Amino acid sequence: MKPLRIVHLSDFHCDGSPELRAALARLIDRAIDCDPDLIVVTGDLSADGRPAELDAVAAELERFGPIPRVVVPGNRDLVPSVGPPGEARPLPVDSDLDFFLALEPALGFGFDEGHSAPAGPDTDPEVRFSSRFGRLDARFAAPRIQLVAVNSTPRLRPAELERAARRLRRSPDGAFRIFALHHGLLPVPGRKLRDGDLANRSGDLLALLLELKVELVLHGHVHRAHAWLVSDGHHQTVVASAGALVNDGRRDASFNEILVEDGRLEVRRRSVATGEPSLLFQTTRPG
Ligand SMILES: [Fe+2]
Repeated sequence: MKPLRIVHLSDFHCDGSPELRAALARLIDRAIDCDPDLIVVTGDLSADGRPAELDAVAAELERFGPIPRVVVPGNRDLVPSVGPPGEARPLPVDSDLDFFLALEPALGFGFDEGHSAPAGPDTDPEVRFSSRFGRLDARFAAPRIQLVAVNSTPRLRPAELERAARRLRRSPDGAFRIFALHHGLLPVPGRKLRDGDLANRSGDLLALLLELKVELVLHGHVHRAHAWLVSDGHHQTVVASAGALVNDGRRDASFNEILVEDGRLEVRRRSVATGEPSLLFQTTRPG
Protein backbone atom coordinates (compact mmCIF):
# COMPACT_ATOMS: atom_id res chain seq x y z
CA MET A 1 0.00 0.00 0.00
CA LYS A 2 1.21 3.51 -0.80
CA PRO A 3 2.60 5.27 2.31
CA LEU A 4 0.43 7.93 3.87
CA ARG A 5 2.12 11.30 3.54
CA ILE A 6 1.26 14.15 5.91
CA VAL A 7 2.67 17.64 5.69
CA HIS A 8 2.75 19.46 9.02
CA LEU A 9 3.09 23.26 8.88
CA SER A 10 3.08 25.71 11.78
CA ASP A 11 3.77 29.17 13.11
CA PHE A 12 3.92 31.37 10.02
CA HIS A 13 3.43 34.52 12.14
CA CYS A 14 2.41 36.19 8.89
CA ASP A 15 2.47 39.94 9.53
CA GLY A 16 1.87 41.07 5.97
CA SER A 17 5.52 42.01 5.37
CA PRO A 18 6.80 41.24 1.86
CA GLU A 19 9.53 39.04 3.35
CA LEU A 20 7.16 36.75 5.20
CA ARG A 21 4.66 36.73 2.33
CA ALA A 22 7.44 35.53 0.01
CA ALA A 23 8.66 32.99 2.57
CA LEU A 24 5.12 31.66 3.00
CA ALA A 25 4.67 31.33 -0.76
CA ARG A 26 7.90 29.36 -0.93
CA LEU A 27 6.88 27.13 1.99
CA ILE A 28 3.59 26.33 0.25
CA ASP A 29 5.48 25.54 -2.99
CA ARG A 30 7.74 23.13 -1.08
CA ALA A 31 4.78 21.53 0.68
CA ILE A 32 2.94 21.00 -2.63
CA ASP A 33 6.10 19.39 -4.03
CA CYS A 34 5.79 16.73 -1.28
CA ASP A 35 2.53 15.54 -2.88
CA PRO A 36 0.84 15.08 0.52
CA ASP A 37 -2.37 13.21 1.29
CA LEU A 38 -3.17 15.59 4.14
CA ILE A 39 -2.03 19.04 5.31
CA VAL A 40 -2.11 19.91 9.01
CA VAL A 41 -1.43 23.50 10.11
CA THR A 42 -1.00 23.87 13.88
CA GLY A 43 -1.60 27.54 14.52
CA ASP A 44 -0.05 30.96 14.85
CA LEU A 45 -0.74 31.52 11.17
CA SER A 46 -0.74 35.26 11.81
CA ALA A 47 1.34 37.66 13.88
CA ASP A 48 -1.68 39.25 15.55
CA GLY A 49 -4.86 37.70 14.18
CA ARG A 50 -5.64 40.75 12.02
CA PRO A 51 -8.09 40.15 9.18
CA ALA A 52 -5.55 41.14 6.51
CA GLU A 53 -2.95 38.73 7.93
CA LEU A 54 -5.46 35.88 8.06
CA ASP A 55 -6.65 36.67 4.52
CA ALA A 56 -3.08 36.49 3.19
CA VAL A 57 -2.56 33.06 4.77
CA ALA A 58 -5.97 31.80 3.61
CA ALA A 59 -5.11 32.79 0.03
CA GLU A 60 -1.84 30.85 0.21
CA LEU A 61 -3.48 27.75 1.71
CA GLU A 62 -6.03 27.82 -1.12
CA ARG A 63 -3.17 26.85 -3.42
CA PHE A 64 -3.32 23.32 -1.97
CA GLY A 65 -6.53 22.96 -3.95
CA PRO A 66 -8.27 19.64 -3.32
CA ILE A 67 -5.69 18.27 -0.86
CA PRO A 68 -7.52 17.91 2.47
CA ARG A 69 -6.30 20.29 5.15
CA VAL A 70 -6.92 20.80 8.83
CA VAL A 71 -6.11 24.18 10.34
CA VAL A 72 -5.88 24.78 14.10
CA PRO A 73 -5.71 28.27 15.64
CA GLY A 74 -2.77 29.40 17.77
CA ASN A 75 -2.65 31.92 20.57
CA ARG A 76 -1.54 34.66 18.19
CA ASP A 77 -4.53 34.09 15.96
CA LEU A 78 -6.99 34.48 18.83
CA VAL A 79 -5.27 36.63 21.47
CA PRO A 80 -3.55 39.71 20.02
CA SER A 81 0.07 40.10 21.02
CA VAL A 82 3.24 41.60 19.73
CA GLY A 83 6.83 40.69 20.31
CA PRO A 84 9.57 38.46 19.02
CA PRO A 85 8.66 35.00 17.80
CA GLY A 86 7.36 32.82 20.58
CA GLU A 87 6.81 35.72 22.94
CA ALA A 88 3.44 37.10 23.88
CA ARG A 89 3.22 40.42 25.66
CA PRO A 90 0.55 43.09 25.61
CA LEU A 91 0.85 46.16 23.44
CA PRO A 92 2.45 49.07 25.32
CA VAL A 93 -0.64 51.24 25.59
CA ASP A 94 -2.36 52.89 28.54
CA SER A 95 -5.87 51.56 28.58
CA ASP A 96 -7.98 48.72 27.30
CA LEU A 97 -9.63 51.07 24.83
CA ASP A 98 -6.24 52.15 23.48
CA PHE A 99 -5.29 48.51 23.29
CA PHE A 100 -8.22 47.57 21.10
CA LEU A 101 -8.09 50.70 18.98
CA ALA A 102 -4.38 50.11 18.39
CA LEU A 103 -5.20 46.65 17.14
CA GLU A 104 -8.19 47.52 14.99
CA PRO A 105 -8.20 51.25 14.34
CA ALA A 106 -10.85 50.89 11.65
CA LEU A 107 -13.40 49.02 13.73
CA GLY A 108 -15.24 52.07 15.11
CA PHE A 109 -16.65 50.72 18.36
CA GLY A 110 -19.26 53.50 18.65
CA PHE A 111 -18.77 53.94 22.42
CA ASP A 112 -20.07 57.52 22.28
CA GLU A 113 -23.27 56.66 20.48
CA GLY A 114 -24.47 54.37 23.23
CA HIS A 115 -24.63 51.28 21.06
CA SER A 116 -22.19 48.52 20.35
CA ALA A 117 -20.55 47.82 17.05
CA PRO A 118 -22.53 45.50 14.79
CA ALA A 119 -21.48 41.89 15.20
CA GLY A 120 -19.59 40.76 12.15
CA PRO A 121 -17.24 38.01 11.16
CA ASP A 122 -14.22 40.19 11.93
CA THR A 123 -15.12 41.44 15.42
CA ASP A 124 -14.89 38.13 17.29
CA PRO A 125 -11.44 36.51 17.04
CA GLU A 126 -12.84 32.96 16.99
CA VAL A 127 -15.36 33.80 14.27
CA ARG A 128 -12.67 35.73 12.42
CA PHE A 129 -10.59 32.56 12.34
CA SER A 130 -13.31 30.00 11.68
CA SER A 131 -14.85 32.04 8.84
CA ARG A 132 -11.57 31.64 6.96
CA PHE A 133 -10.22 28.26 8.07
CA GLY A 134 -13.18 26.22 9.30
CA ARG A 135 -14.25 25.13 12.74
CA LEU A 136 -11.82 25.49 15.64
CA ASP A 137 -12.21 21.82 16.53
CA ALA A 138 -11.39 20.63 13.04
CA ARG A 139 -11.43 16.98 12.09
CA PHE A 140 -10.72 14.76 9.17
CA ALA A 141 -11.79 11.21 8.53
CA ALA A 142 -10.81 8.90 5.71
CA PRO A 143 -10.69 5.10 5.62
CA ARG A 144 -7.06 5.09 6.77
CA ILE A 145 -7.02 8.22 8.95
CA GLN A 146 -8.95 9.64 11.87
CA LEU A 147 -7.75 13.08 12.90
CA VAL A 148 -9.22 15.29 15.56
CA ALA A 149 -7.95 18.74 16.43
CA VAL A 150 -8.74 21.03 19.34
CA ASN A 151 -8.26 24.69 20.07
CA SER A 152 -5.85 25.11 23.02
CA THR A 153 -6.20 28.92 23.33
CA PRO A 154 -6.56 30.23 25.96
CA ARG A 155 -6.84 26.68 27.32
CA LEU A 156 -8.19 23.28 26.41
CA ARG A 157 -11.89 23.03 27.15
CA PRO A 158 -13.18 19.81 28.78
CA ALA A 159 -16.30 19.64 26.58
CA GLU A 160 -14.17 19.89 23.44
CA LEU A 161 -11.81 17.17 24.70
CA GLU A 162 -14.76 14.92 25.46
CA ARG A 163 -16.06 15.37 21.91
CA ALA A 164 -12.61 14.59 20.52
CA ALA A 165 -12.31 11.48 22.69
CA ARG A 166 -15.74 10.21 21.58
CA ARG A 167 -14.76 10.67 17.96
CA LEU A 168 -11.46 8.84 18.42
CA ARG A 169 -13.17 5.95 20.21
CA ARG A 170 -15.48 5.57 17.21
CA SER A 171 -12.55 5.38 14.74
CA PRO A 172 -12.73 2.44 12.38
CA ASP A 173 -10.36 -0.43 13.16
CA GLY A 174 -7.01 0.10 11.55
CA ALA A 175 -7.42 3.86 11.06
CA PHE A 176 -4.33 5.84 11.91
CA ARG A 177 -5.32 8.12 14.81
CA ILE A 178 -3.93 11.64 14.91
CA PHE A 179 -4.51 14.43 17.42
CA ALA A 180 -3.53 18.04 16.63
CA LEU A 181 -3.31 21.19 18.73
CA HIS A 182 -1.23 24.36 18.87
CA HIS A 183 0.44 24.15 22.29
CA GLY A 184 2.97 21.52 23.30
CA LEU A 185 2.60 18.48 25.52
CA LEU A 186 6.26 18.08 26.42
CA PRO A 187 9.33 20.32 26.57
CA VAL A 188 11.59 20.13 23.51
CA PRO A 189 15.38 20.47 23.27
CA GLY A 190 16.71 23.91 22.39
CA ARG A 191 13.83 25.88 23.83
CA LYS A 192 13.66 27.08 27.40
CA LEU A 193 10.18 26.24 28.61
CA ARG A 194 8.12 29.39 28.96
CA ASP A 195 4.86 30.09 30.74
CA GLY A 196 2.02 28.93 28.55
CA ASP A 197 4.15 26.77 26.22
CA LEU A 198 2.39 23.57 27.23
CA ALA A 199 -1.30 22.87 26.98
CA ASN A 200 -2.98 22.98 30.37
CA ARG A 201 -3.06 19.53 32.04
CA SER A 202 -0.72 18.21 29.37
CA GLY A 203 0.14 15.12 31.45
CA ASP A 204 -3.52 14.12 31.73
CA LEU A 205 -4.01 14.78 28.03
CA LEU A 206 -1.03 12.63 27.11
CA ALA A 207 -2.37 9.76 29.25
CA LEU A 208 -5.79 10.13 27.60
CA LEU A 209 -4.32 10.12 24.09
CA LEU A 210 -2.36 6.93 24.85
CA GLU A 211 -5.52 5.31 26.19
CA LEU A 212 -7.32 6.36 22.99
CA LYS A 213 -4.54 4.70 20.94
CA VAL A 214 -3.58 7.91 19.21
CA GLU A 215 -0.40 7.18 17.25
CA LEU A 216 0.62 10.70 16.31
CA VAL A 217 0.25 14.05 18.08
CA LEU A 218 1.07 17.17 16.07
CA HIS A 219 1.69 20.56 17.63
CA GLY A 220 3.39 23.88 16.99
CA HIS A 221 4.16 26.92 19.16
CA VAL A 222 7.68 25.88 20.19
CA HIS A 223 9.27 26.66 16.79
CA ARG A 224 11.36 23.51 16.88
CA ALA A 225 11.16 20.50 14.62
CA HIS A 226 11.26 17.59 17.02
CA ALA A 227 9.65 14.26 17.83
CA TRP A 228 9.36 12.21 21.01
CA LEU A 229 8.21 8.62 21.27
CA VAL A 230 6.10 8.32 24.42
CA SER A 231 4.82 5.11 25.93
CA ASP A 232 2.78 4.24 29.04
CA GLY A 233 3.84 0.61 28.81
CA HIS A 234 0.70 -0.36 26.90
CA HIS A 235 0.57 2.01 23.96
CA GLN A 236 2.95 4.39 22.30
CA THR A 237 2.53 7.65 20.46
CA VAL A 238 4.82 10.01 18.56
CA VAL A 239 4.58 13.65 19.68
CA ALA A 240 5.95 15.78 16.84
CA SER A 241 6.39 19.55 16.67
CA ALA A 242 7.02 21.52 13.50
CA GLY A 243 9.48 24.37 13.06
CA ALA A 244 8.34 27.88 12.21
CA LEU A 245 8.37 30.09 9.17
CA VAL A 246 9.78 33.01 11.14
CA ASN A 247 13.54 32.93 11.27
CA ASP A 248 15.11 33.82 14.58
CA GLY A 249 18.59 34.02 13.09
CA ARG A 250 19.74 30.58 14.23
CA ARG A 251 17.44 28.23 12.35
CA ASP A 252 16.07 28.38 8.86
CA ALA A 253 12.36 28.10 8.27
CA SER A 254 11.09 24.55 8.06
CA PHE A 255 8.13 22.23 8.08
CA ASN A 256 7.70 18.52 8.70
CA GLU A 257 6.80 15.72 6.36
CA ILE A 258 5.52 12.53 7.98
CA LEU A 259 5.38 9.18 6.23
CA VAL A 260 3.30 6.38 7.64
CA GLU A 261 3.24 2.89 6.26
CA ASP A 262 2.76 -0.58 7.68
CA GLY A 263 5.18 -1.00 10.52
CA ARG A 264 6.99 2.33 10.05
CA LEU A 265 6.62 6.01 10.86
CA GLU A 266 9.13 8.59 9.72
CA VAL A 267 9.34 12.34 10.45
CA ARG A 268 11.44 14.47 8.12
CA ARG A 269 12.30 18.10 8.63
CA ARG A 270 12.22 20.01 5.36
CA SER A 271 14.07 23.27 4.92
CA VAL A 272 12.00 25.98 3.24
CA ALA A 273 15.15 27.48 1.69
CA THR A 274 16.42 24.33 0.01
CA GLY A 275 13.47 21.92 0.17
CA GLU A 276 15.96 19.30 1.36
CA PRO A 277 14.71 16.74 3.87
CA SER A 278 16.62 15.61 6.93
CA LEU A 279 15.53 12.58 8.90
CA LEU A 280 14.32 13.69 12.30
CA PHE A 281 12.77 10.54 13.62
CA GLN A 282 12.04 6.98 12.62
CA THR A 283 10.29 4.25 14.48
CA THR A 284 8.57 0.97 13.94
CA ARG A 285 4.86 0.89 14.66
CA PRO A 286 3.43 -1.97 16.66
CA GLY A 287 1.59 -4.30 14.28
FE1 LIG B 1 1.97 30.11 19.76
